[in-house]
Amino acid sequence: MQYMGPWIPSFTNAISSHLDSSPFVTFSFATVDKSGFPKVRTCIYRGFLFNDKKTNILTFTTDIRMDKYEHLSSNPKFEAVFWFPATNEQFRLSGDAKVLTYNNTESFSQSLSNYPIVSPNAIKRYSSSLDLSNIHNTLQHQQSVSDIHAKPTSDEWEGELNSKWEQLSGNLKSSFRKPEPGSSMSSDKQKLLDSISRGVDGSNADDGKKNFSLVLMLVDKCDYINLNGRQSRYQYERFDDDQWTEDEICP
Ligand SMILES: Cc1cc2nc3c(=O)[nH]c(=O)nc-3n(C[C@H](O)[C@H](O)[C@H](O)COP(=O)(O)O)c2cc1C
Repeated sequence: MQYMGPWIPSFTNAISSHLDSSPFVTFSFATVDKSGFPKVRTCIYRGFLFNDKKTNILTFTTDIRMDKYEHLSSNPKFEAVFWFPATNEQFRLSGDAKVLTYNNTESFSQSLSNYPIVSPNAIKRYSSSLDLSNIHNTLQHQQSVSDIHAKPTSDEWEGELNSKWEQLSGNLKSSFRKPEPGSSMSSDKQKLLDSISRGVDGSNADDGKKNFSLVLMLVDKCDYINLNGRQSRYQYERFDDDQWTEDEICP
């Protein structure tokens, strides 16, 4: 089953307060490179997977040509830090990060191993069966109880990619068809960058989709510090797939 981690309510409240005065939420995302060095960079938070807090999975978009994609392919461990100055709270999250692309939707559910992610359509069927069971539709209810363990389908993964892609501005979409990030600049690439920024490069907005990906942060641990008043610090850890420990520690 999917149960919301006990750190999520504080996290979503902090996000809401932050969005009252800022257009988006940034955070620092760290991976480990092939030599074992940590690499950290700023990213923009794009909400919960399937827009569902109970997944405990946070997302951001990236270009598969960037280093973090290669890092995560050989070592999925990540740490992410969110600092919310308005509410004086820090969330340090860690676990495995998986990269969803248009090329891996078929096999993606298998790659999530023991993380309890349920098909969003199965959840809807299950919820409606709870209503129907009141009118004695037992068979349908039983079917839905088994549905509740169904993994997301390839179509659902593709739908999630499309939904996150459509939420990007035209400018951000265009960044996915720019010359390879991190490659040396040349006069041809400079010309291409200029024409993309003027919208006259002759390509379609969706051409960047081939480089577009959604990073799923499968959170296993959360270290939460609240620096307001009596300063407090809590640690949360996932166990038995869908359970969480909660410990208050000295800040
Ligand atoms: C405010 C801000 C927001 C950013 N958001 C993202 C993002 O959501 N995804 C991303 O891949 N890079 C984002 N970047 C760029 C990264 O910080 C980084 O430069 C880029 O991802 C390349 O990192 P890598 O080669 O280590 O993967 C952002 C940078 C800034 C300054």
